[in-house]
Parts: sequence; C-alpha cells; structure tokens
Amino acid sequence: MEIGSLLKGKTALVTGAASGIGKGHVEVFARAGAQVVAADIQEDQGKAVVDAVNAAGGDAQFVRLDVTRMADWKAAVAFAVSAYGQLTTLVNNAGIYHPGGVEDETEDGWNRMVAVNQTAVWYGMKAAMPELLKTGNAAIVNISSLYGLIGSPGSLSYHATKAAVRLMSKSAALEYVKRGVRVNSVHPGQIRTPILGNLTAELDAQIKAAIPMGDMGRPEDIAYGSLYLCSDLAAYVTGVELPIDGGWSAA
Ligand SMILES: NC(=O)c1ccc[n+]([C@@H]2O[C@H](COP(=O)([O-])OP(=O)(O)OC[C@H]3O[C@@H](n4cnc5c(N)ncnc54)[C@H](O)[C@@H]3O)[C@@H](O)[C@H]2O)c1
Repeated sequence: MEIGSLLKGKTALVTGAASGIGKGHVEVFARAGAQVVAADIQEDQGKAVVDAVNAAGGDAQFVRLDVTRMADWKAAVAFAVSAYGQLTTLVNNAGIYHPGGVEDETEDGWNRMVAVNQTAVWYGMKAAMPELLKTGNAAIVNISSLYGLIGSPGSLSYHATKAAVRLMSKSAALEYVKRGVRVNSVHPGQIRTPILGNLTAELDAQIKAAIPMGDMGRPEDIAYGSLYLCSDLAAYVTGVELPIDGGWSAA
C-alpha cells in the first residue's frame, strides 16, 4: 500500500518500539515519511529495528527509555528535539500483560501493571506536551486494548490500566482541543506479538475461533490505525477510541 507522504514533516516518538506493535509503528511511520525516535528498554532489539528501517531508506533513531521513569522521559523528548528539531507526534505503546484476577493478583503485580501501562502514559503526555504545543499541529495516540473496552475474567489489573488509558485520552483530548494537540486511543484485539507468550496450538485455535475475522491481527494493522490518527487526514478527530480487532468488539 502506498503511504509515502502521509507523515512527511512529522517527528514521532514511539515507546515499546523494540518489539511487536511498537516495532510495527516504527516501520509504518518511517515508510509514511516520518522521522521516528524509537524508544524502549531493550537496547539491542531497539537498535536492530532502527538499523533495518534506516537500511530500507527510513529515518529513525533509538533512545533508551524506561517509561516508568520521568527522568528518562525528559531525556527522550530532549533527544528527539536535538535530533530532529521538533516533536509532533507521540505514540504511548509500551505495555505489559500478566494474568491476575481479584484474588491471585499480587500487590507488586498490580503496582507494576499500573506503573507501566497507566502512569507511564500520563508521564509521556506530560513530558512531551510542551514540545507538542510548540508545533501547533500535534497528535498523541495512546495504545489501550480491546480489554480497555470490555471485561474478562482473570486479568483485573490489565483491564483496569487499559480502561484508564481510554478516559485519560479523552480527558487530555478535551484539555488541549483548542491548542493544536489531538489525543486518541487505539484498542487492539488479539495481535500476534511476544506479549501473548507461547500459545499452545489449542489456545491459539480457541483465540482465533473467538475472532469474527477468524485470525489474529498483525502489528501493522494497529500501526495503520495510528497512522491515520497521527496524520493530517484526522485533523478533525480527537477524543475517539478506535478498536482494531477483526470485528471482536462488534460481536
Ligand atoms: N498483542 C496484543 O494482542 C495486544 C492487544 C491489546 C493491546 N496490546 C497493547 O499493545 C502494546 C504493545 O504490546 P505488544 O503486543 O507489541 O507487546 P510486546 O511485548 O511485543 O512489546 C512491548 C514492548 O514494550 C516494551 N516495554 C515494556 N516495559 C517497558 C518500559 N518500562 N519502558 C519502555 N519499554 C517497555 C518491551 O521491551 C517491548 O519491546 C501494549 O501496550 C499492549 O498492552 C497488545
């Protein structure tokens, strides 16, 4: 698909960029003409992602960023601005998952889930906002989940954080609606990435059977949604939640 200039002139910071959906964003955004700062705690994998993107003619740089550390955020935003002179676009994608219901989630597990999946999304918006505001035409996409829209048994802490991201996005959208920063959330269904762990053939088949389209999505399926929301095609779009889930949320 020809997407060559949709993000021309944009500079995007993508978190969780070393793997899965974040890696998909780096690749798709670079193909669409954006300068991309790829951020992650996995340095070797993150550098390999930007090396491949640059070898294919893109323009990406890696920065180490632990999204739970505000000092890292400040340094990553400063890095983006020193490398490219601006920051127009933020994709808060880094996230973790572990199962844990009401009784079997631990305090440490809960706190870690909230730190990475929820508090870090606020940190990212807070750290990037001064630079985004300077551009007068900026966009944030926060990667939530289908599990931020519906419940399921046994993943209470994950649902809590992803549901929070949904309303954090809408609240920020309204806070900045007249100041040139649009904020939207994207809600992936089941996407084949390392976060799913090693699925048995039986579980794999069960997941597919639950999806109306009959298969899991690919990282780029999510990145194409963010591409639209971060491009000027979506100039009138803010505060929306976009499920990308093979029809799951419609069922
Ligand atoms: N794969 C799915 O089915 C699915 C479904 C719904 C939502 N999501 C969401 O999509 C996002 C990406 O998930 P994925 O499937 O690509 O998983 P993944 O495990 O492949 O990638 C997650 C990335 O986040 C990074 N990360 C984790 N903690 C970090 C931290 N503290 N600081 C910086 N980076 C950190 C990891 O190093 C990894 O590179 C997550 O927010 C996840 O909750 C995924």
